[in-house]
Amino acid sequence: MKKVIFSAALFIFCALLLCGCNPEKTALSDKGGIWAVYDRECRKCHKVSGKGCFVGRIIYKIPNFTNAKWQDNASDSRLIIAVANGKRKMPGFKGKITDDEIVDLVKTCVRSYYPPQEK
Ligand code: HEC
Repeated sequence: MKKVIFSAALFIFCALLLCGCNPEKTALSDKGGIWAVYDRECRKCHKVSGKGCFVGRIIYKIPNFTNAKWQDNASDSRLIIAVANGKRKMPGFKGKITDDEIVDLVKTCVRSYYPPQEK
């Protein structure tokens, strides 16, 4: 019996580690507006911090939105197209959310991580 509980605890621990347990969960929707959409659609991969979860960064090459160099090299149009049509492991969001929301997500949410926030 002890073994079962131990395995379960270990499993949950690893799951949390992999997905990155997110204590800041509600902070984003509190900002209101387009952030509620980010919270619902994008947070699970890109996270509250905009850095992407650790594993995702390594395996799926999720970009770090707080990286100034990355921001400088990423044009609005490229990012909007990527969010609308999807890019490799990222699903496309055209049709799931409105076009205005996609533009707003890039211009407001993604750009808000630049300049990098002190944390
Ligand atoms: C299933 C996980 C997942 C979800 C959900 C997701 N993304 Fe991504 N996103 C990714 C991955 C993986 C990449 C890296 C794509 C690549 O370059 O291969 C990425 C890349 C991006 C990029 C950079 C594209 C580029 O051209 O460099 C932007 C901007 C972005 N995501 C915004 C969003 C927004 C906004 C949402 C919510 C509407 C969102 N993502 C939802 C996984 C996700």
